[in-house]
Formats: sequence, C-alpha cells, structure tokens
Amino acid sequence: TQTILIGAPIDSGQRRPGCLMGPAAYRVAGLAQAIGDLGHGVTDWGDLSLGDLPAAACPNPAVDQLPATLGWTERLRETVEDALAQGGMPIILGGDHSLALGSVAGAAAHARRLGRPLFLLWLDAHSDFHTPLTTTSGNLHGTPVAYIAGREGFDAFPPFPAPLPASHICLYGIRSVDPAEHEALLRHDIAINDMRVLDEQGIVAPLRAFLAKVREAGGLLHVSLDVDFLDPSIAPAVGTTVPGGTTFREAHLVMELLHESGLVTSLDLVELNPFLDERGRTARLMVDLVGSLMGKKVFDRPTRSFT
Ligand code: ARG
Ligand code: MN
Ligand code: MN
Ligand code: MN
Repeated sequence: TQTILIGAPIDSGQRRPGCLMGPAAYRVAGLAQAIGDLGHGVTDWGDLSLGDLPAAACPNPAVDQLPATLGWTERLRETVEDALAQGGMPIILGGDHSLALGSVAGAAAHARRLGRPLFLLWLDAHSDFHTPLTTTSGNLHGTPVAYIAGREGFDAFPPFPAPLPASHICLYGIRSVDPAEHEALLRHDIAINDMRVLDEQGIVAPLRAFLAKVREAGGLLHVSLDVDFLDPSIAPAVGTTVPGGTTFREAHLVMELLHESGLVTSLDLVELNPFLDERGRTARLMVDLVGSLMGKKVFDRPTRSFT
C-alpha cells in the first residue's frame, strides 16, 4: 500500500491562527522520510487549496466561517475518496479538526462503494459532538463526530455518505465535553473511553476490544488523531490543551497496537499549531507516533493476536 500525504492547511474550524502551518511543520519534521525508512512507498500530493467559497447560512449566529469549512469539507471528501480508490493509505496533514468533516466523509463514501463498513477511532481530549446548532463557541472543529454519526443540524452540509452507526465509533482519551455534547452522547450508544475508563482499565483493553469488533465486521478503520489527545507537557503545540492527557508511552503503545492490527486504512493528524510549538518538539513527536503506527518498533517480536 502506498502512503499518500495530503496537506490540509485549514484554520477555519477554530479561531487561533496557526494550524494552517501544520502540513509544512510535518514536512520539516521529516514525516515522508520516517514512513519511507520503514519500507513503505510514500507520495506527497502537496497542499490542497480552497476554490470559490460556497454561499451558506446557519440559523445559529455563533457559527464561524461556515463557507470556508464547507469548501474544505468538499475538497477533502473528494481527495480522500480518490486516494483510497487508488489503493493508497491517505494521511491527512492538518489543519484543525474540522477537516475530519471531509476526510471521514471520503472514507465513508469509499467504504460504501466497497460494500464494507467503516469504523472510526477518535483520539482526542474532546468529543467534538456538537452540531452547528448546539455549538456555543461557534468553532466547527467541535462538530465532526456529530456529522459522521448522522446527527441533525447539518443542513448546510452535503448529507454524510452512510452515517456511521454509534457502535462503529470509539472515542478515546476524552476529558473535555460541553453540556450539550454530554446530553447528546447519552442518547447515542457511542463507546466513550474517557480518562476515567482508561485509568481504570488501562490503555490496551478498550482498544483491543474495539479493534476486535472492526476485524470481525471486516471493516475499514479511519483514525483521527488530535494533538490534544496527548498531555500538554509533551505536546504543547495545540490551541485547546487539556491537562491529564495521554503520556508518551501510552500514545506509542496505542500506535503500536494499531499497527499490529493491520486495520488502519486512513489517518488524520489534526490541530497541530506550529506557532505554539517549542523548537518543533510536538511536530517531531507526532511524526514519531506515525512511525509507530506504520510499524516502527524496538524489537520485532511475534505479537499476540487480537481475536
Ligand atoms: N467543545 C469545544 C468547542 O466546541 C472544544 C472543541 C475542541 N475541538 C477540537 N477539535 N480541538 O469549542
Ligand atoms: Mn475551540
Ligand atoms: Mn478534536
Ligand atoms: Mn481536541
């Protein structure tokens, strides 16, 4: 499988400028080289750009930069679907998390064409389960999971191709949920692995359980990795830090388990804000984590199987 890097310099899903430098920072930190060194083919499709903005309106006046987000959603949907249709593994270099409105739509369109189910692993401090009608910040990076799950309130957006059943969505690392998201999550049967669950059960068991489900269903797996999944002490370059995040070792272990599963078909790297970084350490850590996800390990031992 050819790895396809897709630059998505998107800033419109939140208000702190800087995420649009994300793709450049991943390239400077050596992402393509790190993947290539592991024996994978890598192609860089460069950065996407936005055409004319569609006209759009939303009844919630708080919503910010809807036309730009709609434009990006369309660009990403078609590009990610293309990359998958060519047999590649797209890695989307964000850009804020609003890009997942489009990247996961592309993965869902592809899965529908194959007649296979799509699963979503959301590695994030946040649940991103607002709709454009419930968000109070107006930042659309807080909405992709709701779109993917087929919630109402996305009238301005193209209908999500084959919304994911709640049981196909796994939230992981959650520690910041707004009241409206909390209320809505209780009405959906989405696996919520918040920090309480991970502290009690460890980082491995809930992930293995989800991966076993994906494997049994013969599913595709999209992984969406938000920088704030990580603890701010190791990953400061993000606008929405939340204390108590995943440690260096936990995060690498998650990536290694994902590699061993052989199930990951597409990946988002989101919310990196290089303007907030310290000498590139967050960008480098994200590149190292992708290395683990792509098969880097200290020793190549036979691994336990999942099923
Ligand atoms: N729930 C908050 C909001 O809607 C924070 C969202 C953070 N999302 C993210 N992708 N970092 O504004
Ligand atoms: Mn925000
Ligand atoms: Mn997020
Ligand atoms: Mn987040």
